[in-house]
Amino acid sequence: MQLFLDTADISQITARMEGGLVDGITTNPSLIAKSGADIMERIAEICAVVPGPVSAEVVATGFEGMLEEGRRLRAIADNVVVKLPLTTDGLKACRTFADEGIPTNVTLCFSLNQALLAAKAGATFVSPFVGRIDDMGGDGLGLLEAIREVYDQYGYETGILAASLRSVTHVEMAARIGCDAATLPPGIFDSMVNHPLTDSGLKAFLDDWKKTGRSGLSQG
Ligand code: E4P
Repeated sequence: MQLFLDTADISQITARMEGGLVDGITTNPSLIAKSGADIMERIAEICAVVPGPVSAEVVATGFEGMLEEGRRLRAIADNVVVKLPLTTDGLKACRTFADEGIPTNVTLCFSLNQALLAAKAGATFVSPFVGRIDDMGGDGLGLLEAIREVYDQYGYETGILAASLRSVTHVEMAARIGCDAATLPPGIFDSMVNHPLTDSGLKAFLDDWKKTGRSGLSQG
């Protein structure tokens, strides 16, 4: 499963790029606004340090405007994925970009029908918003399972990008369900490595080693 960071904060991104664990980035208008940066400049900065897919979202709501903005975003770098809202115009723009070979991420997906339409529109990724569904008393993980089942049943190649994840358990479940990618706030990404038994086990190993009087692996 690909792991993306869900942020437009360049320092948060650069701090996590070493080690090869981050496969890409997702942004949205709220995240860009929060960063205070110009969207074109920020997406260029991100693409300069991230070789994988970088989702950049249009803010136009009409078909022609989406095409114009999507093309401008895509011109920034070859790894830009044009992010489009799951609306009638967004799906139409998705089909146009798909026919042109431009990768897309159809976002704000909250139902199986919407995911089905995104696949039929040729989306590269569909982004179901797990946390926001849970916030409304729904079953976000259940939606991921349903999309996986239907995509597999019909052989749709659209990647399921689990989004709006709020916990490490969400990440584990997205992986078990067979999502193709998950996008995580940096804090949740950092938490994935943590386990108290790793910490206590390492402490015990090092305490035992210290008792030998050796400082490192050499005998000196
Ligand atoms: C995904 O593409 C979105 O940017 C994001 O995951 C939304 O998450 P939120 O519901 O925490 O805002």
